[in-house]
Amino acid sequence: MASPDPIRLFRSWFSAARKAGIPSPEAMALATADRRGRPSVRFVLLKGVDDRGFVFYTNADSRKGGELAANPRASLAIYWQPIARQVRVEGRIERVSDAEADAYWATRPRESRFAGSVSRQSRPLRSRAELLARWRKLVREVGDGEIPRPANWTGFRIVPDAIELWRERPHRLHEREQFVRIRGGWKRSLLNP
Ligand SMILES: Cc1cc2nc3c(=O)[nH]c(=O)nc-3n(C[C@H](O)[C@H](O)[C@H](O)COP(=O)(O)O)c2cc1C
Repeated sequence: MASPDPIRLFRSWFSAARKAGIPSPEAMALATADRRGRPSVRFVLLKGVDDRGFVFYTNADSRKGGELAANPRASLAIYWQPIARQVRVEGRIERVSDAEADAYWATRPRESRFAGSVSRQSRPLRSRAELLARWRKLVREVGDGEIPRPANWTGFRIVPDAIELWRERPHRLHEREQFVRIRGGWKRSLLNP
C-alpha cells in the first residue's frame, strides 16, 4: 500500500495550527551548516509549501545564505505547543525563480520592503544610526514609488527527502511518523519516541 503524502499531511497540520490561533504558526527553526559541517540555527517564516517543498525568504548574502551556497542542505523544525505537534524536515536547497521571488516581494508590506532593501543582513553594523540613515535616505529617494527587490533578497526552497510528524501522546509514548522519499513516493515508518 502506498504511504500517505507527508506534504499533504503537513498542510492539514498547518491549517490545524492556524485554526488553533497559534501566534506565528509559520515560525520555524532553520538549521544550516558551513562547508566544514558546523551547524547554525535561526528562526525564519514559512512562506510557501507545495509538492515541491518548503519556502522561506531571506538575504542570500546573510550568514545562512553563505552557508547554503557552500552546503546546499538544510533542516527545519516547527513546534506548535497548543496542538502538541512537532514537524521536522530535511532536504536539499534550491533558490526559487526570480518570478516567484518578485511575486512574493510584491505582497510584502512597504515597511518590510524598505527594511529588506537597507539591511545588509548578518554583516556587522557600526551603529543603529548608520542603519537608520540608510533607511531614511531610501525612504526619501523612493517616496511613493516602487521599491525594487534587491537581487540578493530571494527565496529558498527545502526540497524534502525526509519529513517527520511528531504528536504528543499519553504516558510520554509520543507518536513519530517518519517519511523518507523513495522513487515516485514516500516510505513511511514509525520511530520510537
Ligand atoms: C519569528 C522570527 C521570524 C523570522 N523570520 C525571518 C525570515 O523569514 N527571514 C529572515 O531572513 N530572517 C527572519 N528572522 C530573523 C532571523 O532569525 C535571523 O536573525 C536573520 O535571518 C539572520 O540570520 P543569519 O545571520 O543566520 O543569516 C526571523 C526571526 C524571528 C524571531
